[in-house]
Amino acid sequence: MKPKVLVSYREDNFPEEVADKLRPLAEVIRVTGDYSEQLREAEVLLASGEKVNDDFLRKAPKLKLVSRFGVGYDAVDVDACTRKGIYVCHTPDVLSGAVADLTWAFILGWMRRIPEADDYTRTEWGKKQKGFPFGWDMQDKTLGLLGFGRIGAEVAKRGKGFGVKMIYYDVVRRQDLEAQYGITYVTFEELLKTSDIISVHVPLIPSTKGILSTPQFKAMKKTAIVVNTSRGPVIDQKALTEALKEKTIAGACLDVFEVEPAPLTEELFKLDNVIVAPHMASGTWETRRKMAERCAESIKAYLEGNRPPFIVPEQKNVNF
Ligand code: 8YV
Repeated sequence: MKPKVLVSYREDNFPEEVADKLRPLAEVIRVTGDYSEQLREAEVLLASGEKVNDDFLRKAPKLKLVSRFGVGYDAVDVDACTRKGIYVCHTPDVLSGAVADLTWAFILGWMRRIPEADDYTRTEWGKKQKGFPFGWDMQDKTLGLLGFGRIGAEVAKRGKGFGVKMIYYDVVRRQDLEAQYGITYVTFEELLKTSDIISVHVPLIPSTKGILSTPQFKAMKKTAIVVNTSRGPVIDQKALTEALKEKTIAGACLDVFEVEPAPLTEELFKLDNVIVAPHMASGTWETRRKMAERCAESIKAYLEGNRPPFIVPEQKNVNF
């Protein structure tokens, strides 16, 4: 009997052609909703974003590989997997450009007031009842990157063309990249105080949970905006809602939320100084395809008896 590969499918696309590459080696089963039944027999799981923790693993006695369809693997308890001899892989690099593109779409969308301009054009143009949607220049604004890893660097690469002044804070200073990207390292406090735009590019780990909350919003410029294409819980959402209502800061562009899908009753959705998206930063046809290929590469290597590529850094030295 061929090993079973479960593909947990949500809105993401795992194309049939990619699944076909695995079919000579495994039975590929797409699952949605509650798939505990199929999980009992599965050796490989392509995980969409579900919590893979001890509880989950108890229902997966045959599991040997979790291939996370994404770069962030905060939903996967890597220690629990390591204890059980299960590899965890992810999809680094291939989505950095798409995430950086959405980050810039947000920034430009806010600065040139695209959502209001769209509405104005359809309903107001020529009537002059509402003010013309004037925006702001990018030139000479300060873009502060909170986190300067793979995605942060792609954002900086694009920023060069817009003439923004770029600064970053990260626990790891990347002096080697600063000249190349035209970016300056600053302290966290300096970043908060001087940025016109703060864009978040950190992974969700205990030390980054709620890293932006009331004191940080208070430290920012009143005209500042916050862009988040990383993980919702990195920002204290209640504190952000308050800051936006009180106009402590000017606005926010959010692709991610504490709870996803965010309920339609979400208070943030009622505010007009917010632009939102449905966790779609990596959601382009090309990038999702590359992510699927990357998952398949890891799964294929494992099924052929090799060490899978794209193992998460915490398992760099383990061999099962
Ligand atoms: C999602 C992401 O994984 O890469 C990540 O960490 O958050 C996204 O690419 C994607 O929506 C699939 O769940």
